Amino acid sequence: MRPETGTDQMLELVLGLPDQLERGADLARAVALGRRRRVDSVLVAGMGGSGIGGRIARGLLLDSCPVPFQVCSDYHLPAVAGRKSLVVVVSFSGNTEETLSAYGQAHRRGCSMVAITGGGELGRLAARHGVPVVTVPGGMPPRAALGYLFSALLVTLEQLGICTSQQSGLKEAVRLMRRQRRSWHSRARTIARQLKGSLPMVYSTSRMLDPVADRWRCQLNENSGVLCHTNALPEHNHNEIVGMGRPARVGRLGVVIALLDRETDPRTRFRLKAMLDITLGAYRSAVLFDTEGRSRLARVFSLVMLGDLVSVELARLLNKDAMEIGRINRLKETMAGRKR
Ligand code: F6R
Repeated sequence: MRPETGTDQMLELVLGLPDQLERGADLARAVALGRRRRVDSVLVAGMGGSGIGGRIARGLLLDSCPVPFQVCSDYHLPAVAGRKSLVVVVSFSGNTEETLSAYGQAHRRGCSMVAITGGGELGRLAARHGVPVVTVPGGMPPRAALGYLFSALLVTLEQLGICTSQQSGLKEAVRLMRRQRRSWHSRARTIARQLKGSLPMVYSTSRMLDPVADRWRCQLNENSGVLCHTNALPEHNHNEIVGMGRPARVGRLGVVIALLDRETDPRTRFRLKAMLDITLGAYRSAVLFDTEGRSRLARVFSLVMLGDLVSVELARLLNKDAMEIGRINRLKETMAGRKR
């Protein structure tokens, strides 16, 4: 059956996340990356829905990556990007000006480069400069292409020796999502009802989950069209805990969503509970979600998919077309009309 509304289309795309993960990995494996010099740093340049895959990969590899790994979501690359850096430039449309600016800098500085894109100007520049390109399928909004963009990036890093094989984690993530997606979808409907008319406050509790909280925020922003706040524990306990619930009007709207994993430090788990007790009355309600699955990759994607589903179901409750991001498009048009 063809999806009837934009929100139904987005739901289909979210439910297709495991299929995208598989396909994106295959696409990256088919690209000849050539012989490369050793690199002493990795940078992923990308904005919004194209940058988040880099953040998720960074969170996953933080504990094992032998070289510093940064994500750059800006016009300018940090000074560390040089001849010994690998810069992976990711833009689904291939036309995002900040990402193209970062591409230009990486090219001028002689960085080792790979592009991941659906085409556009980035595709053209990379072809002209002989930069290897992983071309992902088009026809969807960038944020809905996370599966392609993320696995293409991860497999590219694997091929270049930046990380060990991620095959078994990818396979497990795909199996888990296929098995659980319907039950997560029904849980997402319940959570969406709880979030209607609220200010979602998504707290991560391990560095691997920080980008997952970011993904929840971005999807709630773009798909559901609502504001969302994120922070990370334990740092939160040293500042935000004091501000919670003030002004009171904002506090009454707050629904805390805490993301937990088996790697969450037991002290952080305890802190979360203690913090929720101490700040009782400073938020409307709180829900705690633990990752599912064995591998880190599967665990991360269990909560990524749940968040994506929540954002679609909240869009439905709010009568917001989950595909519509008019303000982003208008701003891009305005920027395109204003030359530097
Ligand atoms: C739209 C979306 C945006 C874009 C961002 C960058 O679905 O998620 O956050 O990802 O504006 O555009 P691209 O991804 O084309 O480089």
